Amino acid sequence: MDANARTHPTIYPAARNDPQKSRHDVHLAALPALVWPRLSGILQPESMTDSKRNFTGRRTHEDAPPPLCQLIAKALTRRQVLGAALAGATLAGTGLSPRPGAAQEEGEGSAAGRFVFPEISRGIDRHDHWPPGYSAKVLIRWGDPLLPDAPDFEPHAQSPAAQAAQFGYNNDYTAFFPLPGFESGELQKGLLCVNHENTTGRLMLPPERWADRSYAGRTWRVAMEQAAIGCSVVEVVREGADWRYLRKSPFNRRITAGGTYCAISGPAAGHARLKTNADVTGRRVIGTLANCAGGVTPWGTYLSAEENFHEFFNGRRFKSHPEFDNYRRLGIPRGGKWGIVDPRFNVNAAPNEANRFGWVVEIDPYDPQSLPVKRTALGRFKHEGAETALSADGRLVVYMGDDEAFEHLYKFVSNAKVDPEHAAANRDLLDDGILYVARFHEDGHLEWLPLVQGAAPLDGARGFESQADVLIETRRAAELMGATPMDRPEDVQPNPHNGRVYVALTANPQRTASAAGAANPRAVNHFGHIIELAEADGDFASREGRWDILVLCGDPAAAKSGARWNEATSAHGWFANPDNLAVDALGRLWVCSDQGMRVARTGTADGLWALETEGSLRGMGRLFYRVPVGAELCGPSFTPDSRSLFLAVQHVAAAPAGLLPGFDRPSTFKDPATRWPDFQPGMPPRPSIVVITESKDRIIAS
Ligand code: FEO
Ligand code: CA
Ligand code: CA
Repeated sequence: MDANARTHPTIYPAARNDPQKSRHDVHLAALPALVWPRLSGILQPESMTDSKRNFTGRRTHEDAPPPLCQLIAKALTRRQVLGAALAGATLAGTGLSPRPGAAQEEGEGSAAGRFVFPEISRGIDRHDHWPPGYSAKVLIRWGDPLLPDAPDFEPHAQSPAAQAAQFGYNNDYTAFFPLPGFESGELQKGLLCVNHENTTGRLMLPPERWADRSYAGRTWRVAMEQAAIGCSVVEVVREGADWRYLRKSPFNRRITAGGTYCAISGPAAGHARLKTNADVTGRRVIGTLANCAGGVTPWGTYLSAEENFHEFFNGRRFKSHPEFDNYRRLGIPRGGKWGIVDPRFNVNAAPNEANRFGWVVEIDPYDPQSLPVKRTALGRFKHEGAETALSADGRLVVYMGDDEAFEHLYKFVSNAKVDPEHAAANRDLLDDGILYVARFHEDGHLEWLPLVQGAAPLDGARGFESQADVLIETRRAAELMGATPMDRPEDVQPNPHNGRVYVALTANPQRTASAAGAANPRAVNHFGHIIELAEADGDFASREGRWDILVLCGDPAAAKSGARWNEATSAHGWFANPDNLAVDALGRLWVCSDQGMRVARTGTADGLWALETEGSLRGMGRLFYRVPVGAELCGPSFTPDSRSLFLAVQHVAAAPAGLLPGFDRPSTFKDPATRWPDFQPGMPPRPSIVVITESKDRIIAS
């Protein structure tokens, strides 16, 4: 163990006090102090002589390794390094009050299978719903103050400066990182990392601001949006049964689309196609955006995935544009408004800027001064998430979906093992490895194709002069290699408990009957499906494996839907459009839906379903939580003990007219379909994080 781990009174003071070190140096130098102890017990648990047994094969629940976050928590409980940094935090002033119109359900049904909770009912209304016996508290809302100078939220007097210090809009992915002492005593502390994917202007801004098309008005609005998008790191604490966020924690941080420098690392860093007039190095970019889902590394950093970045760019894609084919493949530009006042986002004024987005960003939540790093080795596409697992020999595997119709499924395998002895190896781990794309054979065979520049077809003859070209144009490389076009790959979730991987495919109405195949079997796929992967030898790094369809989503009672569920699934237990996935401490699978406009087809708002993966009930869903009208449910994550569940409720009230019975008009800031979660006159709906606990503090649904 690094001796510094016990002696530093604050976070990385040695690095911070050295004026010779850049911000990036601080990040890199700081890693040993926290990274190394977090790894204890991951690779060679004391009771195991054969490390392979821990990470391969189908296991019982008793001998399964705990999730990575549990291991991080265990390591951190042995350390005191962060103690002094917590001194400035305060529990006061979170501004949260009891919830009006709270909608705890009566509940239906009884326990069955591995999930024990009364299932709630499907439906659409102004409230969120959860089972009896549970608490569902709004932990933090859009606009809640995070940084010391942040003002209280005032919906009619918003400003970019205030927003940059407050919790962002449209919260998506969440990840919980424990702080020391998590598993001991009453006070549980941790850092909640949250993505803010985009904004919904007509619900976020007063109409006079939203309608202002003047140059000054656009400039203000772009600054607002750039401040509202990106990431938040928030310290949260549980006292007894009550979770709160700490308003002035020194860990609290906003990373924004317009105000945070990010480093670019890996094979594409510094390449000519990433250089701009403002950054002649091609290694430093302002901001991260379109932050959708993500993942957690074993060394305690958080991965944030840039997804629909094309929507932020404008300009004309002339055939003479140097990136014409590349940008066409990604739908860039997509008529975004930022480029009107910020030339960086105009593909004609800044031809290479869009090559600097569409990456996975690594963030160290334990160091508020650290520089986020865009890891180019993981490819450039519309990244949904970046969930991780360890290979049999201890390398890191990152599973990723490219969320668009007919796009692909990827995994990155690091060349180096996650190494507790050498911090530098972990620091650069995501810069050196092989990116693979999946081919699903009709007979259930799974093949991972390496995207490595050199031999045909990834050669100079096809414009791939270097590995950087392969990574910048990952989609084209994948297609040339013969990857299988999928029905919109969203979250890809490895489950270390059973060695399987779950792939959410949300929908693809454009698929024709002639283009249907075994892995994407439905033409005009409105409802999506979930595929289960079993990597060869149970090793997440394997080059091949098997695949099987777990469920075909949609209403099983509607013959035309083509849905396929376990027949024990209730009328509330089926869902459509699977998106974010999570595995809890017992190895059970949870699924969020993102139906968008298809809510009208299913008659229920989005929600969280428990989905059985084992035994005779495999493929049975049960509804656990449901969002208010117009919202999408994202980012389910658990504390290491799975006694608390965090959920991200985004674009609340963004529903088409008529979806809510009796509300047959557009939903707007002044007249929204719901004012969840505050339900105060004049207060707009607010994307928020909800934390769920069980009344007797049991593991959720056990
Ligand atoms: Fe941002 Fe594919 O969801
Ligand atoms: Ca998503
Ligand atoms: Ca996930």
